[in-house]
Amino acid sequence: MEFSPSRPDHPAPVVTRSPEFPPAGLFPPQVRDSFPALAEAGEVYLDSAATTQKPRSVIDTVRNYHASATANAARGTYPWATALTQQIAAVRARTARFIGAGDPGEIVFTAGATAALNAVALSWGLTALRDGDEILYSPADHAANVLPWYLLRDTLARFGRRIELVPYRMTPSGRADSADIADKIGPRTRLLTVSHLHHVFGGLTALDDLRDRIPDRVLVCYDCSQSGGHLPVDVAALGADFAVFAGHKMFAAPGTGVLYCHRRVHPDLRPFLPGGATDARLTTDGFETGRMPGLLEGGTPNIPGILALGTALEALDSYGMPAVAAHNRILTRRLLDGLRDVPGVDFLPGPGHGAGDTGYGIVSFTLDGISAADLGFVLAEYGFLVRTGTHCVPAAADAETGSVRVSTHIYTGLADIDHFTDRVRALAEEFV
Ligand code: ALA
Repeated sequence: MEFSPSRPDHPAPVVTRSPEFPPAGLFPPQVRDSFPALAEAGEVYLDSAATTQKPRSVIDTVRNYHASATANAARGTYPWATALTQQIAAVRARTARFIGAGDPGEIVFTAGATAALNAVALSWGLTALRDGDEILYSPADHAANVLPWYLLRDTLARFGRRIELVPYRMTPSGRADSADIADKIGPRTRLLTVSHLHHVFGGLTALDDLRDRIPDRVLVCYDCSQSGGHLPVDVAALGADFAVFAGHKMFAAPGTGVLYCHRRVHPDLRPFLPGGATDARLTTDGFETGRMPGLLEGGTPNIPGILALGTALEALDSYGMPAVAAHNRILTRRLLDGLRDVPGVDFLPGPGHGAGDTGYGIVSFTLDGISAADLGFVLAEYGFLVRTGTHCVPAAADAETGSVRVSTHIYTGLADIDHFTDRVRALAEEFV
């Protein structure tokens, strides 16, 4: 796809850097042909952290479900229904392999990453936490990894159980601060929740340096919403007890998510959404729960969404997650190089403050003299689609200006990044 600014009276700035740099590790521009929404657009999409573009194969999967042999799954015994039941089981198995889970019974399909994090609070926290227990969290995380813990604390308080939410700091490179977490793990800590790849800062937290110092009683929950479609994720290597994924940020459709629950936590889980297909039954004196993953699933599943997730994972596997990560790393460096000496640009925590080869396709910044919202509006006029504001961080809800976030994927090219940084430089000359 050629860059074509949406305002012909404002031609694209001239790219001055060598187009050959760097020579290897990038997907060719033809990869965009697999993403129909890009093939038809003149804009440069730089908002893949909000949602990724969808490959044609994913769009076809959603359409085919509705257009042929539509049925419910895990219920009927006629061939249309049983075929779907088997396909969903196959997607569960593929998902387990994709994230390094031990077995498909650890994979729960949810309505998204937000639903999955709320499921941890409701199906584990509500029953497992005791008076005085503590949860370690970052107030700089996405609301979906902050608000459920606050709601859990308030709900438990109504029943006379008081839990504490203990905040930890982030580092200038946009990662969870291991030293601060180590200081704050106490005898009553029960859960540590982190963003694997931070949705605004773009820093990666894998807790490698902390693993030996996290006692067994402390469960670790990773929000992999941003990492899941951008780099290889291995929940076993991460030491995750819980991990959540957002299908729509992995080439799949909105309304589809994954909750990984390590088998060691299964005995402590209770249904959070009991209904048809939940593995639970009535007994003479009450309610008896069954096994995972049926324990945490209820109601008709998002069948086209789950099938589309399977197709999306197939696409990501075919591109190769290490290659996807390498592509985004190269673009991140190019972006940082292009923005670093623009007068008035200030990077938020993240790879802009880190050394060397860090960066996974998310960079946020501000520009002196213009609010993020106005800058986003002007950039959109020039055909660059970025997210602006406070990016769903509840602690920043009263911040005045927020920031501009640029996020990339395999369909983003070096020329896109160069045109973007040249445009920011031109705007800086106007506003700073
Ligand atoms: N959570 C998504 C984002 O970061 C929507 O933009």
